Amino acid sequence: MTVTRGLEGVVAATSSVSSIINDTLTYVGYNIDDLTENASFEEVIYLLWHRKLPTNEQLIELKQQLAKSAELPQGVLDGFKSYPIDQVHPMAALRTAVSQLALFDPEADQMDPEANYRKAIRLQAKMPTIVAAFARIRKGLEPVEPREDLSFAANFLYMLSGEKPAPIAEEAMNKALILHADHELNASTFTARVCVATLSDVYSGITAAIGALKGPLHGGANEAVMKMLTEIGTPDNVESYIREKLIRKEKIMGFGHRVYKYGDPRAKHLRLMSQKLTTLTGQPEYYDMSVKIENIVTSEKKLPPNVDFYSASVYHSLGIDHDLFTPIFAVSRVSGWLAHILEQYENNRLIRPRAEYVGPGMQEYVPIEKRI
Ligand code: ACO
Repeated sequence: MTVTRGLEGVVAATSSVSSIINDTLTYVGYNIDDLTENASFEEVIYLLWHRKLPTNEQLIELKQQLAKSAELPQGVLDGFKSYPIDQVHPMAALRTAVSQLALFDPEADQMDPEANYRKAIRLQAKMPTIVAAFARIRKGLEPVEPREDLSFAANFLYMLSGEKPAPIAEEAMNKALILHADHELNASTFTARVCVATLSDVYSGITAAIGALKGPLHGGANEAVMKMLTEIGTPDNVESYIREKLIRKEKIMGFGHRVYKYGDPRAKHLRLMSQKLTTLTGQPEYYDMSVKIENIVTSEKKLPPNVDFYSASVYHSLGIDHDLFTPIFAVSRVSGWLAHILEQYENNRLIRPRAEYVGPGMQEYVPIEKRI
């Protein structure tokens, strides 16, 4: 047996959803640079689920389906009110609420492709509503009902704040959603595929994926980056803060990647947005600190920033609570998880690797009264 720690370099599935080749990320063969500049997030959802860009009619239909499915069952909203709300991280709330959605969906365990597609629409539509409703309820505010006339990105920001967002905020959110939508066989997507490969249901797959995304080595890194920027406070403190961390051999959140060795192609878009938005909001120090950190980490460790690094200052500039950064990632990535789940069902085989046993050899059972 050969053990590959962390499954590095192991090819565990075929997929036609997205690819990373020579540090270029494509969704169904479309470069993310093109999609980020030109597409709406709704077009990208369609692309990931159907493997082709929608016509105008197909896009309108998808938007209508999403808009009509955005409301939450009352039971899920009531659930939030029963949580110990000031102790609950929004990712934990999201994980529980998504699992709860299954209880209110009569089709939850129906496994035909049409029913699974309908559940994909419902999950994609309800995830932003869950994140926004929880964010408001914990502040003692009433949830804001979704609006059918807004884009996915604008409606999400509207449900968070209760106000229609400025065009630049909508544009930034749309781009961020596109950039986070899919990423080949990352940890949470792999988790989703392992889960549904047992022929478990879509809700179980997404609940499991949210759990995997929550960790700071994966989606949780964007919140950790913001914590670091807040601790640093001003560009003058960057040098000593980062160098001390490196001396202590601590990881700098938002840097490094298992697959990209020369740079994450998503980071440059978020870097530009961060520069624009932090200037507009009169907080350029967040961008300046980030650039200084990037310069030190790339020169000292040869590690480029990943998607999570500049997304932190982007979301901060949009006025979003820092612990909602990872849930926003999930609101986008659920599109990719769902594409992979549907793909897994199409040609399923149980995913069951082996482990090399390194424990003690054969032992004889000792009755409890004789144990020392
Ligand atoms: N800061 C400092 N050193 C780092 C960092 C970092 N961010 N990332 C990797 N290294 C170092 C490690 O300490 C290790 O050094 P060593 O060989 O001297 O022990 C070496 O680089 C290899 O690191 P691993 O953790 O083994 O690399 P792996 O491929 O397993 O992990 C990961 C990739 C998890 C992304 C890692 O780079 C990391 O922890 N980064 C910080 C967390 C982060 O930003 N996660 C988000 C990733 S993107 C996403 O999931 C959306």
